[in-house]
This record gives sequence, structure tokens and C-alpha cells, in this order.
Amino acid sequence: MTPHEEGFLVGLITKIRVSHHVATRNLLEDLRRAVDRLVARANPTERATVLVLRGAFTTFQDDLLAHLLHEERVVFPYVLGLEQALESERPAPTSSFGPLDHPLAALKDEQASTRGALDRLEAAIALGRTHGGDPLVWDGLGEPLATLKRDLEVHVCLEQEVLFPAALDAEQRLAARHVREAERRAPSRT
Ligand SMILES: [Fe+2]
Ligand SMILES: [Fe+2]
Repeated sequence: MTPHEEGFLVGLITKIRVSHHVATRNLLEDLRRAVDRLVARANPTERATVLVLRGAFTTFQDDLLAHLLHEERVVFPYVLGLEQALESERPAPTSSFGPLDHPLAALKDEQASTRGALDRLEAAIALGRTHGGDPLVWDGLGEPLATLKRDLEVHVCLEQEVLFPAALDAEQRLAARHVREAERRAPSRT
């Protein structure tokens, strides 16, 4: 499917939500349970590294969940409204944020911030694995984290390389249509 085909944006956003946002939330839950197990089992010598891990995980989780909600509650509905307006006589969606490139820049900043939080989480796991106790227990975090990391790479690429450019293009096409319609309605000077 190409970006100018009917239903392209709704199909892409549905795929992102169903495939990636659901997987992200499930994997965060798996990681939360693994972190809680580590906290519960930590002996006094492991406690400091486990608490560093819990702090790093909580920051990563909070950043990522806030980012998903920003997309689901603000940006995706607006982008879907753009496509609906282009494909029908519906009016353009109203936005509280000005042009679309403003929230898209904010989403890219959030993705970079989440990436930094993920790096700190990986560092906390590496620290705990070498100084915090049984490496096998710490390795239990590795699999869900590696799966989430791989999924996030595809997810971010799909948004930054496909969704955001297609959404900006839809906004521009809708604006151009409004200009043409305004010119047609304007009284002729001749
Ligand atoms: Fe997303
Ligand atoms: Fe995103």
C-alpha cells in the first residue's frame, strides 16, 4: 500500500497499535514482574544494585507509557482526522498544537529520551549481574528486554520513516485543497 491510497493511515496506525503498542505493554508487564521478583529476593548485599535497577526500570516504563498515550490520545486521532477529511467532505480536524510538525518533533524527543532510559536500564542490569548476586536471576531480565528492544526498533522506524512523513503529507494535501476551494469560492475580479 502507498501513502496516497485510501485507508493507508488508518491501516498503519491500527498495525502500530495492535502489533507494537500491545506488545510493548505486555513486555513491560513481564519486566515489571521480573524486577519485582528481584526486589523481593534481594539479600542485604544485593539490595543497593536492585534498587538502582528498580529506579531505572520505573523511569523507562513511565517514559514509554506516557509516549504511547501521547500518540494514542493526541497525535493518532488527529492524523486519522486528516485522512478522513481528505477522503470525504468532512472538515479538517482541529488541533490544540498548531501544525503537525510540532507534536511530531515532541514525539521524536520522547523517543530519544526513552532510548536514553533504556540505555540506563541496561547499565543497571549489567551492574547488578556483576555485583548484585546470582547472574542467572539477572539474566531472567535479559530476554524480555531484548525482545522489547528489537520491537521498539521496528516500532520507532515505522513511525519516524513511514507514519510521520505520510501524516505531514496528508496535512499538506488537505491544506492545498482548502486553498483551491477558497480560490473557487472567491468572487471573480473580472
Ligand atoms: Fe507508537
Ligand atoms: Fe512512538
